[in-house]
Amino acid sequence: MSEQPMTYARYLGLDALLAAQTPQSDRHDELLFIVIHQTKELWLKEIIHEVKLAKALVAAGDLEPAYKALARVSRIQTIMTLSWDVLATMTPADYLSFRGSLGTSSGFQSHQFRELEYLLGLKDESFLRFHTERPAVLADLKAALEAPSLYDLAIRHLPTHGLALPPRCWSATSPSPTNPRKPWRTPGSRSIATPSATGSSTSSPRSWWTWTTPCSPGGTSMC
Ligand code: HEM
Repeated sequence: MSEQPMTYARYLGLDALLAAQTPQSDRHDELLFIVIHQTKELWLKEIIHEVKLAKALVAAGDLEPAYKALARVSRIQTIMTLSWDVLATMTPADYLSFRGSLGTSSGFQSHQFRELEYLLGLKDESFLRFHTERPAVLADLKAALEAPSLYDLAIRHLPTHGLALPPRCWSATSPSPTNPRKPWRTPGSRSIATPSATGSSTSSPRSWWTWTTPCSPGGTSMC
């Protein structure tokens, strides 16, 4: 039997993709709510694909092509941020007209959002509890949790560029003689663990922007 020619629909799996929007209510706006989540999850899939490539390249010291992958990620993030404009056309009343049919589902349960956090270095293992029923997803998340993050791999290169960081700047998954397995954020809490001068974490919430202040050797940043 001759192979069927490749078509646009077959190549993109459109039958499965376009059958994947199943509103739980008869409210007109629910389709937008589903489509915007699904498109963001598709973009998250692409971002994870690029970040994994960037990690492998950074680990191999091949930094230039890693920049290309990360530049693509930043463009995708721009698109994802812009797409809130579309969601903003749905009023709170529109949303509340079908909110009940979402049940207990929540963005907290997005396994790709979590995997991306882990790949970048924000590791809160308490979110694994949402994925115990999906062994393949759980395995991916555990692998990302255990592996050095993009942050870990990047700061390993700093010394070769004359920018050695003090060990206290090493994260939980970057092997460091002085700081084994100390998470930045206490699992289960959304507040940021604050390593004090003694290195012990006090988990006092701090402004998120202080968390992104880069470590400056000898500087007054958080590390
Ligand atoms: C009307 C629109 C939306 C509302 C009212 C909403 C509401 C919320 C709320 C209340 C939370 C906190 C967790 C919870 O209490 O369940 C949350 C978290 C989250 N939402 Fe949404 N959301 C909306 C749209 C979206 C969209 C379009 C996405 C795209 C994928 C998204 C992804 C997430 C993710 C990943 C989290 C977890 C964030 C984290 O852990 O830091 N949400 N959302």
